[in-house]
Amino acid sequence: MPEFIPLISEEEIKAQVQKIGEQIAEDYTNLDLVLIGVLKGSFVFLADLTRAISIDHEIDLVGASSYEGTTSTGQIVFTKQPDLELEGRDIVLVEDIVDTGHTLLKIREFIRLLNPRSIKICSLIDKHERREVDIDVDYACFSLEKGFIVGYGLDYNEKYRNLPAIYDLKL
Ligand code: IMP
Ligand code: MG
Repeated sequence: MPEFIPLISEEEIKAQVQKIGEQIAEDYTNLDLVLIGVLKGSFVFLADLTRAISIDHEIDLVGASSYEGTTSTGQIVFTKQPDLELEGRDIVLVEDIVDTGHTLLKIREFIRLLNPRSIKICSLIDKHERREVDIDVDYACFSLEKGFIVGYGLDYNEKYRNLPAIYDLKL
């Protein structure tokens, strides 16, 4: 049976998401902010983050899939493209977790082709140990050295996204 070791509580998540939302609102005052959530893992985080940002902004979604089980396949498949016109706008890509960095690098390259004015990256978790590409997370709620975590949108084989807190998964 898998074991779930509590890592980040609901209260800690709430406080940190609020703080990052306020920071983004301050940084994007008088800019044309579009949050682009990366499906599927970011949907819980995105729902809370948008409500923590008090300035006007728009939301879009991009679909990319890269993982099977706990190891990267190294392949990224685009499953959904953004609907909004992004040219000249200020994009914040919203991810659940940045691990090797390959997924976000490819998504950022793709979004760049749509000619936005700026692109920054916001991730619930910035996980360091396996980073393989040079990508900086501009807004990270939490930093983690290693491990495989689930909950608050993060899955293991599509399960456990519904857990309201974040757990270290021991298989
Ligand atoms: P990257 O391309 O290696 O940065 O992988 C990013 C994607 O891998 C994330 O969007 C997640 O879907 C998945 N992922 C990486 N680490 C974890 C984890 O600890 N728990 C759940 N999913 C993870
Ligand atoms: Mg995933």
